[in-house]
Order: sequence, then C-alpha cells, then structure tokens
Amino acid sequence: MNIILLGPPGAGKGTQARRLVQELGMKQLSTGDMLREARTSNTDMGKRVAAVMDAGNLVTDDIVIGLIEEQLSITNSTGFIFDGFPRTLAQADALGSLLAKIDKELNFVVEMKVDDEALVSRIVGRSTCVGCGDVYHDVTRPQPPTCTNCGSESFVRRADDNEISLKTRLLAYYRDTSPLIGYYHAKGKLNSIDGLKDINVVAEEIRLILNSRNSL
Ligand code: AP5
Repeated sequence: MNIILLGPPGAGKGTQARRLVQELGMKQLSTGDMLREARTSNTDMGKRVAAVMDAGNLVTDDIVIGLIEEQLSITNSTGFIFDGFPRTLAQADALGSLLAKIDKELNFVVEMKVDDEALVSRIVGRSTCVGCGDVYHDVTRPQPPTCTNCGSESFVRRADDNEISLKTRLLAYYRDTSPLIGYYHAKGKLNSIDGLKDINVVAEEIRLILNSRNSL
C-alpha cells in the first residue's frame, strides 16, 4: 500500500509517518529529510538547497523528483509513505509515472487539516532528536534528557522553524501544494482528516482509512 501524507508545515506528517513505519513496517520517503541530508554535503547544490529551505521556499521540482526517483529505484518495500512529496502538480504527475514504471500505484492520499494558528505554535515549539529524527514539542511532547526512542542526548531546532520562514512555507503550501487536494479528489484518492486532534486519535483515523476498502 502506497500513501501520501499531505498537509501544511507542522500538520503532523512526519509524526504520523514515523508511527506507520514503526507499527506497520512501511517505508517513509520524506523529501524534507533527504534535502536536509543533502545540505550537509557541502557541495554547491547542498548550499543552494540550504538557502532555499531556510527561507521557506520550495526546492525545484527536478531536484526533488530526482531524489524520489532514486529512492524508488533502490528501495524495495511493500508500502511507501510519501511525506512532504508531492508538493506541486508537476511533482504529483511525476509520482504517478514513477510508480507506474515500477508496477505500483498510489492507494490513498491523507490530507491532514490544521489551522494556521495551531501550526505556528507546533512549529516554534518543535525539537528533533539528532540520533533518530524523533520529534518533540515544548508543550505537547516535552523533550526528555535523552530521546525515548534511541537514547541520544542531542536535539536540534530546525533553521526554518521560525515565524518568518513559516509564513513563506505556508504561502508556498496554499499557492503550490493545496491544488493537489482537488487533483487527488478528482482521482478518487483523497481522504481528509482533522489533524488538530490528539496524536493518537489522528493515528487511529489514518489506520481506519488504510483499512477501508471503499477508499481503494
Ligand atoms: P519538510 O521537512 O517536508 O517540512 P514541512 O512540510 O514544512 O513539514 P514539517 O516537517 O515542518 O511538519 P510535519 O507536518 O512533518 O509536522 P511534525 O510531525 O514534525 O520540508 C522542509 C523544506 O524542504 C520545505 O520548506 C522546502 O524548502 C523543502 N522541501 C521538502 N520537500 C519538498 C518538495 N517536495 N518540493 C520542494 N521543496 C521541498 O509535527 C510538528 C510539531 O507538531 C511537532 O513538534 C509534533 O510533536 C507536533 N504534533 C504533531 N502532531 C500533533 C498533534 N496531533 N497534536 C499536537 N501536536 C502535534
């Protein structure tokens, strides 16, 4: 089963993707994580990507489509979770073609709806474990001295997790990514859920969608 988690920055895509990986053994493909890795490479491309991400803008379609194409060609999994991809109509078309090339199809798109006010507080309060990428929040999931998942003592706050970059990221979401809601609705793949609910309730709702034969 291959799914997309679609939603604005801070909607909880990464949080839910990690649960699906742990509980169902699915494979998470997060273009944000891939790009954060690329930016540490100290290449010209890495530096360009870093500047674009820190400002909250979208990286070009050819770069992110290339990253996903590479992962799909080297990774064998019975279920992919696309987290943060696609983000434009061109990326959505490309994903359809890439999946068809390897005889796979997209089963569900889960749109996670969260209002802007909640997104701001989620983003500015977020910290991430350096060891395993587990995500914490100052209020809803306070960072312990050591990561509960991997025991690491190091945590970071992302350079784009500030109110100025977030404004640009939200604009990019509404301008470039939200048209995908209509795109996938028209294809009969869209399932929308309330991402404001408790993390466990959101996880349960995603599970219900995955178990629902009607959405296939
Ligand atoms: P990316 O890394 O994809 O970031 P994003 O889409 O902005 O999403 P986030 O990772 O910020 O949020 P999330 O939805 O995963 O929320 P999380 O689970 O962490 O992209 C970063 C940048 O890379 C982009 O701006 C762009 O420059 C570039 N990029 C990436 N992909 C690209 C693409 N395809 N094309 C072009 N450019 C691309 O949760 C957030 C916080 O909320 C956490 O603290 C968490 O604990 C908390 N939380 C989660 N769920 C709940 C809940 N239900 N209730 C309360 N708190 C919750």
